[in-house]
Amino acid sequence: MQVTVIGTGYVGSVTGACLAYLGHRVTCVDTDSAKIARWKLGQSPIYEPYLDELIAQASRIGGIDFTTELTEAARNSDVIFIAVGTPPLPNGAANLSYLEAAARSIGSAMDSSRFRVVVNKSTVPVGSGNLVETLVREGILETHPAERNKICFGVASNPEFLREGCAVSDSLYPDRIVVGASDDRTMQIMRDLYRPVVEQTFEPPPGAPRPPQLSTVPLVSTSLTSAEMIKYAANAFLAMKIGFANEIANICERVGAEATEVMLGIGLDSRIGSKFLNAGVGWGGSCFGKDIQALLQTASEYGYTSRLLQASLDVNTAQRQMAIQKLQEKLYILKGRTIGLLGLAFKPDTDDLRDAPSLHIAERLLQMGARVKAYDPIAMQACRELYPNLRIRYCDSVREVAEDADALVVVTEWAEFRNLPLEELAAVMAKPVLVDGRNVLQPETAIAAGFDYTGMGRCPRLRGDNHSRREVAEAVQAPSSVSP
Ligand SMILES: NC(=O)c1ccc[n+]([C@@H]2O[C@H](COP(=O)([O-])OP(=O)(O)OC[C@H]3O[C@@H](n4cnc5c(N)ncnc54)[C@H](O)[C@@H]3O)[C@@H](O)[C@H]2O)c1
Repeated sequence: MQVTVIGTGYVGSVTGACLAYLGHRVTCVDTDSAKIARWKLGQSPIYEPYLDELIAQASRIGGIDFTTELTEAARNSDVIFIAVGTPPLPNGAANLSYLEAAARSIGSAMDSSRFRVVVNKSTVPVGSGNLVETLVREGILETHPAERNKICFGVASNPEFLREGCAVSDSLYPDRIVVGASDDRTMQIMRDLYRPVVEQTFEPPPGAPRPPQLSTVPLVSTSLTSAEMIKYAANAFLAMKIGFANEIANICERVGAEATEVMLGIGLDSRIGSKFLNAGVGWGGSCFGKDIQALLQTASEYGYTSRLLQASLDVNTAQRQMAIQKLQEKLYILKGRTIGLLGLAFKPDTDDLRDAPSLHIAERLLQMGARVKAYDPIAMQACRELYPNLRIRYCDSVREVAEDADALVVVTEWAEFRNLPLEELAAVMAKPVLVDGRNVLQPETAIAAGFDYTGMGRCPRLRGDNHSRREVAEAVQAPSSVSP
C-alpha cells in the first residue's frame, strides 16, 4: 500500500520505518524542514536504537522517503497517518493545534481518485476521531467545493503503545494492535495494512529478532471512541502501577522492609505481573503526565472527578522530591554543595527529556543554592540545547561527575550505571554520599565500597542476616523489571 506518515518524531519515524520494512511504500512528512533535511541525509534527528539501520533496510524493501510537502504524498496514498505531537496546554488539556492543522491539510490534498483512510496515531482525547473527520471535510470544502461529494475517506484511530528505547521491536512485535474505525471498509484496509504484523509473516530484521513463541499478534477492533479511551486507560494504569510501587517503597523504608524483595514477591502473582513495579524517583516522559491530565480534563468536562488519577499525579510529583529529601537527610545543608546527577533522559536508551525527573531535581537543587554536575550517555546535547538556562555542569564521564562532589544521585537507570567502579568513585568525592534513585546498585556492595548509600525503599541487609539478597533472588527466577 501507499502510506503517508505526518510527523517524524519518535512515533511517526518508527511507524514509517516499520511499515516500509513490511513492504509498504512510505512517505514521511514533517513541517520541520531541519528535521527532514537530517532524515534525508540518513542522520536521525532523534536517538532511537536500531532505527537508522531499519530505515536503510526499509528503503530497499517498500521504500521510504522524507519531505515537507504533504499534498503530493497524501494524494498518492491509501493510508495517511497523523503522528504529530499533542503536548499539554497550561490547563492540562491536550493541545490539538498540530493535529487540526494536519487534518485540514489532508482534506486540502485529497481528490476523488481513490478511497483513503486517515489514521490518527497521535494520542488524542476521546472524540478526536470525529474532530479529524470534520476537519478533513472542512479542508476538502475549502479547496475542492465542487468535488466534495465525490471525495471519499474513512477515519481510524490506531493508538501507539511503543516505548522509546525499544520502539522498533515494540512496533514489529506489539502485545496488540488497537484499531477503532468509522466503517467496515476502513477497518478492512487497516487489517490489510497490518496483516504482516498480525500474522508475523515478515523476516525479522537482524537488529530486532522476533521474540520466541510469537506467532500472531491480536488486532483489537473497536469504535473510534473506545480506541482513544484504550490509550489513555493503558497509560493511566501504568503510571498508577509505578506510583503504587513508589508508595509501597516509601512504607518499606519506614518499617524496615526491602522494596525490591517486596516487588519481586508481589510481581510474581500473575494477576499483578512484575513489570512497572520498580520503585524510583518517579516516572517522566512525554506521555504519562500529559495523558493523565488530558483524561482528568475529559472526565471533568463530563462532570466526573477521578480521585485515583489525580492521586497518581500527586504521588509522582512528591516522589521526585524524594531525591532532594534524601540528600537533605544525608548532607543537611544543600546550599553550596555539589551534587552529581547520573542520567538526564527520562529513561534509558533515549535522548528524550520531556517531563524528565532529572530536570525537576536539577531545578530544585539549583534553587536551593547547590551546584549541579551531570553525566548522561546520550541526552546531554539535547539538554544543553533545550534548556540553555539550566546551570548544569556537563561532564564527560561518571568519574568527572564524582570528583569533589558531595553526593551522587542515580536518576536514570542506564545500563552503565549498574556496574560503576564504586571504590574509585567514592575515593574522589568530597563526601561519598550515594542516592540510588533507581535501585540499580546492591546496597551492600556500595556500602562496602565506602559509600553512604540510600536507595528507594531499601533496607540493606548487613552481615548476620539469615539470607543474602542473592539467595532470595535466586530462589525464584527474577523477572526483568521494566523501567518507566
Ligand atoms: N513518544 C512516545 O513514546 C509516544 C508513545 C505513544 C504515543 N505517543 C503519542 O504520539 C504522538 C507523537 O509523539 P512523538 O513523541 O512522536 O512527538 P514528537 O514531538 O517527537 O514529534 C511530532 C512531530 O510532528 C511534527 N509536526 C507537527 N505538526 C505537523 C504538521 N502539521 N505536519 C507535519 N508535521 C508536523 C513536528 O515537527 C514533530 O517532528 C503524541 O500524541 C504522543 O502522545 C508518543
